[in-house]
Amino acid sequence: MEHEYGYFTETDSIDVVIARNRVVGNERLKEVMPVIIRKLHEAVKEIESTQEEWLEAILFLTRTGHMCDDWRQEFILLSDVLGVSMLVDAINNRTPGAASESTVLGPFHMKGAPLREMGANICLDAKGEDMVVSGRILDTAGHPVADALIDVWQANDEGFYDVQQRGIQPEFNLRGVFRTGPDGRYWFRAVKPKFYPIPNDGPVGQLLEMLGRHPYRPAHLHYILSAPGFATLTTHVFDPDDPYIHSDAVFGVKESLIAKFELVRDAERSKALEFAGDFWDVKHDFVLVRAKDQAA
Ligand code: BEZ
Ligand code: FE
Repeated sequence: MEHEYGYFTETDSIDVVIARNRVVGNERLKEVMPVIIRKLHEAVKEIESTQEEWLEAILFLTRTGHMCDDWRQEFILLSDVLGVSMLVDAINNRTPGAASESTVLGPFHMKGAPLREMGANICLDAKGEDMVVSGRILDTAGHPVADALIDVWQANDEGFYDVQQRGIQPEFNLRGVFRTGPDGRYWFRAVKPKFYPIPNDGPVGQLLEMLGRHPYRPAHLHYILSAPGFATLTTHVFDPDDPYIHSDAVFGVKESLIAKFELVRDAERSKALEFAGDFWDVKHDFVLVRAKDQAA
């Protein structure tokens, strides 16, 4: 029997492997696999991997898999630190100019956070520097969006999420869901978040160390914003004065997501907000895109 394409050689490796695939009924796989095979072979050819190096790569991926469980997704972390998560996010959220930009979800979102009264304090253990966050949810024409759900979560003043400190922080600390009224306004109280390292006790942490990179994310608040008829937006708001604002370990910072954190020294305002003293004032509007206008 004649060989189906040709024998495998260093020169012909890409064509030989692609020709072997006979994908039927899955057009996307048919389109994607040749690209993956070509890029992978090109990388090995350019690097001229030794057997030991290739085995090391395979063992690295094996350790990455072994690190995964219901809570820990080391492959997503790998994708994050390689900038691939942000690239996929960018490709899939080509929003019109006026709209708020998206960024990574991260591993610490919890479904089922409590719906709270507008203005509630999401800090349940009174630890940290008081902060009030407010703004509007608007459409791209500048009109308020009513009935928008603002799902917010953040790390505490030591850089830990509640789920990383079970038994230390109260359940659902620094999390909450708020619903806008007809004016599209939102506000809530919290504490100023702090920078923190992404989980770095596994192979991704070792990789960052070998690459001479730190594992820190600048202080931020996470948001998932949803409203009937609008595309759901997953995003952050960042503290501009954070030491890691220009070197986020996962490349999540975008200029438009950097808010103003203003320190307020005003006894009357503190009293009205039931804060003991000075507090941080963070103002940020979000602009949502109608689902029908979201570019594919
Ligand atoms: C986070 O911001 O929660 C996060 C994002 C990516 C990787 C690790 C943590
Ligand atoms: Fe985070």
